[in-house]
Amino acid sequence: MRKGILAIAAVGLLATGSLTACGDNSGDAGSGGDKKPKIGVILPDSASSDRWETADRKYLEEAFKTAGVDYVIQNAQGDKSQFQTIADQMITGGATALMIVNLDSGTGKAVLSKAKSQGVATIDYDRLTLGGDAEYYVSFDNVAVGKLQGEGLVKCLTEKGVKNPVVAELNGSPTDNNATLFKSGYDSVLQPKFDSKEYTKGPDTSVPGWDNAQAGTIFEQNLTSTGGKIDGVLAANDGLGNAVISVLKRNSLNGKIPVTGQDATVQGLQNILAGDQCMTVYKAIKQEAQAAAELAIALANGQRKDTGQTVKDPESGRDVPSVLLTPKAIDKTNVKDVVADGFVTKEELCTGAYAALCTAAGVS
Ligand code: BGC
Repeated sequence: MRKGILAIAAVGLLATGSLTACGDNSGDAGSGGDKKPKIGVILPDSASSDRWETADRKYLEEAFKTAGVDYVIQNAQGDKSQFQTIADQMITGGATALMIVNLDSGTGKAVLSKAKSQGVATIDYDRLTLGGDAEYYVSFDNVAVGKLQGEGLVKCLTEKGVKNPVVAELNGSPTDNNATLFKSGYDSVLQPKFDSKEYTKGPDTSVPGWDNAQAGTIFEQNLTSTGGKIDGVLAANDGLGNAVISVLKRNSLNGKIPVTGQDATVQGLQNILAGDQCMTVYKAIKQEAQAAAELAIALANGQRKDTGQTVKDPESGRDVPSVLLTPKAIDKTNVKDVVADGFVTKEELCTGAYAALCTAAGVS
């Protein structure tokens, strides 16, 4: 009986979903056969960004519950062998579709191909697994994310009136394809300025595993090696940005040197309100989770949908059916939009000293 209800829920979702259903390829991986649809999700860690546990988990759960589909969500906590173990357990536990946020393409690829060999359909969630064979890739336009960061930093440097600023870049993990895309976005804005000598290129460093503590150490070294001559920092997400801001605080430089971010975390938004962070990038993770859940449910039921878009995997040249959402730049003037969208609450953002800053920024 329960199976009937699930089938109805899934059909309802197909009918109302924003993606077009494109037939039942029951011979493909993940067709499920007689298996009851069950979706497994592996999140990467909970330290590189607040988003995974506070936003992605919550919105994915909401989407699966609404659809009445069985699911399990686990977090690999940055451990690649744990990631593989979780995947194996999900497959033996009857998952008919697997959604992963890889820790690097090599290990991600192994998980995807093992799943496929067991008839389990797969989705790359947020991060594309290079050379992988996931049925879908659901993310944001990550080059656009980087462009917003570059443009945001230029705007802040212009407002501060810094002539020929030295700009440091603190990039995300070298094994995260998104970090590569963010960098190509912000370098498309900054490199022409370095080339024309309007700006001076400072240290350009990647942070392994997006490790926030390591980011602090790296930036401390950057500051020392340049004799303190850094005028702006392109930090690839709010966690890295906050590590930079902590170092700047210790040197009484916070607020004087613009720092970027990404993810619109509570901490990032508070740093913006305090004037210590120039901007962040808000990605509506609710939409990302819903789009991915919709595809995962279709796959778990042995169906395919036409996403109307593909992304070329630079390693294999494969055109991966994709959903790419649009990011939005956030500075002090529109922090309130993130609250209005329900991504963070006024209660968590406007605590203590931030209450007055929230009022001044029109957060209600
Ligand atoms: C995500 C970012 C996140 C970073 C660190 C990236 O792949 O797109 O939103 O901040 O990983 O977890």
